[in-house]
Amino acid sequence: MIPRFKLSPSGPEVSALAYGLWRLADDPAGTSTARVREKIETCLEVGVTTMDHADIYGLYTCEGLFGRMLREAPQLRDRMEIVTKCGINVPCAHRPGVHARNYDTTGPAIERCVDRSLRELNTDRIDVLLIHRPDWLTSAEETARGLQRVVQAGKVRSVGVSNYTTHQFALLAHFLGRVPVTNQVEVSLLRMDAIYDGTLDQCQAAGVHPMAWSPLGGGRLLSGHDEASARTRTALARVSADLGVSAEQVALAWVTMLPSRPQVVIGTNQPSRIRDAAGGARLVLSREQWYALWEAAQGRNIP
Ligand SMILES: NC(=O)c1ccc[n+]([C@@H]2O[C@H](COP(=O)([O-])OP(=O)(O)OC[C@H]3O[C@@H](n4cnc5c(N)ncnc54)[C@H](OP(=O)(O)O)[C@@H]3O)[C@@H](O)[C@H]2O)c1
Repeated sequence: MIPRFKLSPSGPEVSALAYGLWRLADDPAGTSTARVREKIETCLEVGVTTMDHADIYGLYTCEGLFGRMLREAPQLRDRMEIVTKCGINVPCAHRPGVHARNYDTTGPAIERCVDRSLRELNTDRIDVLLIHRPDWLTSAEETARGLQRVVQAGKVRSVGVSNYTTHQFALLAHFLGRVPVTNQVEVSLLRMDAIYDGTLDQCQAAGVHPMAWSPLGGGRLLSGHDEASARTRTALARVSADLGVSAEQVALAWVTMLPSRPQVVIGTNQPSRIRDAAGGARLVLSREQWYALWEAAQGRNIP
């Protein structure tokens, strides 16, 4: 079974792998309730209990597809933690009144998004609500007040952020009076910024597990034609042959081994790949293997 931990001292218990629903509407096998249920039941069976949503996924349709499945199988709700995100407005049929792209993390916008997500997801509570992206036009104090209101209303259990800089994270923590339960950021062999810019160190200091999105570079790591992907793939193949595991498992382990212990958010639409990822959830690389992958991805030796 997949390891579990508390996302932060005040956050929920979660599985070390989370399942991302960003690509739910793009599944070549379709979006029928049966297909959605097949993937979610596969996750639960192998111990992936954290479901990572955002209101905007599938242009505001993915939460609804998931909620339709929960209406049919309500018994699944108590076996999972639901994470969702708010704060991005894109003009489309599901966002009446929005005429231009913008971020809005004011109190009323947060409350509106939460009410909609609860309705779409067909649930009475959101386990973790994240601000999807920093909104440069709203004060952290205002955002914190909005977040506190949805928690006080019993609609949201805990709150965190995504794609925040370390300063934005600290500022929001100040006005919240507590540390956000996570910072969900992009981390993979092809995206190491959070390792160098202090984001993961800040999480480590606060006892918060970051959530790592696109851990396979959105698939580029396994199928990209660019030089960095090709180089890294060669190194992944070597390590996976040595260990007798899949290249995907090695790439995910490379992220989970970071000292801040990220919760890795996978995004496949294929049940067999969910099983494979779960099968490697306890994989540990040697120090030499980890650094060899770093060097391959970076195309240079460690200094
Ligand atoms: N907070 C944010 O701003 C943010 C941004 C982006 C994503 N996210 C979250 O992170 C989650 C994961 O992101 P992601 O979907 O980009 O994760 P990912 O695991 O890096 O990439 C998944 C993609 O890789 C493909 N893939 C997997 N194994 C492959 C292989 N062996 N060969 C070729 N392609 C392969 C999958 O295709 P198949 O479906 O065919 O397997 C899928 O399209 C999202 O669902 C979302 O929840 C958050």
